[in-house]
Amino acid sequence: MIFSDFLPRTLNGEAAENQPPFRDGAKLIFSGCEKCVFLDRTQTLLYTFCNRKFMKILVTGGMGYIGSHTAVALQEHGYEVVMVDNLSNSRREVQENIFRITGKAIALEVFDLCNADRTRAFFSAHKDIEGVIHFAAHKAVGESVANPMKYYGNNLISLMNILRGMDNTGSSTLVFSSSCTVYGQPEELPVSEEAPVQKALSPYGNTKQISEEMITDHIHSEACDGMRAVLLRYFNPIGAHDSAHIGELPLGVPDNLVPYITQTAAGKRDQLKVFGNDYNTHDGTAIRDYIHVMDLAHAHVKALDRMLQGKHKDPVEIFNLGTGTGYSVMDVIKAFEKVTGKPLNYAFAPRRPGDVEKVWANPEKANKILQWKAKQNLEQMMRSAWKWEMSLKK
Ligand code: UD1
Repeated sequence: MIFSDFLPRTLNGEAAENQPPFRDGAKLIFSGCEKCVFLDRTQTLLYTFCNRKFMKILVTGGMGYIGSHTAVALQEHGYEVVMVDNLSNSRREVQENIFRITGKAIALEVFDLCNADRTRAFFSAHKDIEGVIHFAAHKAVGESVANPMKYYGNNLISLMNILRGMDNTGSSTLVFSSSCTVYGQPEELPVSEEAPVQKALSPYGNTKQISEEMITDHIHSEACDGMRAVLLRYFNPIGAHDSAHIGELPLGVPDNLVPYITQTAAGKRDQLKVFGNDYNTHDGTAIRDYIHVMDLAHAHVKALDRMLQGKHKDPVEIFNLGTGTGYSVMDVIKAFEKVTGKPLNYAFAPRRPGDVEKVWANPEKANKILQWKAKQNLEQMMRSAWKWEMSLKK
């Protein structure tokens, strides 16, 4: 490799023209893509030698659970990432922890995307953003039932501001974080993207449906010039990055199953309540399609690549992101007990209002078109979730 052909950059992604020339013997941190190598020359400088310009991607909610794992996958794939987060459900140290994994600094602006003026100013200052992955949203189903305005207000207004910001700057590619919740209880399983969207069971679910419609209507309108979007319908993301530097960080009592399991085993909660053991399933507990969060993160990179390379067939494309296998709550508990050797304190409790009985994905469309497949099995997912929980103790 002839390094003089490549563009050296500093930690901040600035061209490092006036820096001392590259010396052989610098430590190779990782190879981000076939055309890039990242070299740690001193404590303060990181040179990137790349024969193409990095594409700058905005990750909203990048400090959150799925956002932080996706930021890692994007950086490792050679994208430059700038994050916007209001830190309402995340902690500042996530930024540093992403750096610990990738060795690449990440830009963060802390503000609320519901602030239209601030969002407009952000896009004006970053006209070189080529793609947006929008995660920033509230996601607790129960809270959305108790306080619907919090959900409609936050999840929809922030999206509107982002679409307007993108319109004004020419950044034309959006990846939207949607959910299998749009299918409700599907009549056929596994559920494919062709299945009808059903009336949402919660205001949270409704915000995902409305968001999908808002994006689709906007992109098909005359007012919109050349924008394209991919709507990713996630099944149940769990687990954490193998390094255990990042993972799910629920503030307060977790709503979701896996953090509740790991916190119970770690002694932070007394007992897991299994919501419902009278469902029509093999053991009476509800079935979901659990997917490792890094598998999910890699799917975002694939979806973004496809859109940025103009390989998409429609201006709005939809993909299910799941493994294709459903596991019951008891299957998950047993897998956890197996990989950790720790018996879990749980008890059966009444069904949780709004829960569907069973849902798992038909992921063939994503497998084929995105050339992506979830790789990690349930035991690997539980192992990484536990490793993460243990790392929080230190
Ligand atoms: C829900 C949403 C999903 C959303 C996700 C994000 C629906 C139908 N699903 O997923 O769209 O993206 O939250 O937060 O709205 N369980 C217990 N005990 C617990 C916690 C959960 O038994 O303490 C059970 C649930 O009843 C369910 C399964 O575990 O059967 C998974 O629950 P959870 O992790 O909360 O995810 P979903 O409800 O599937």
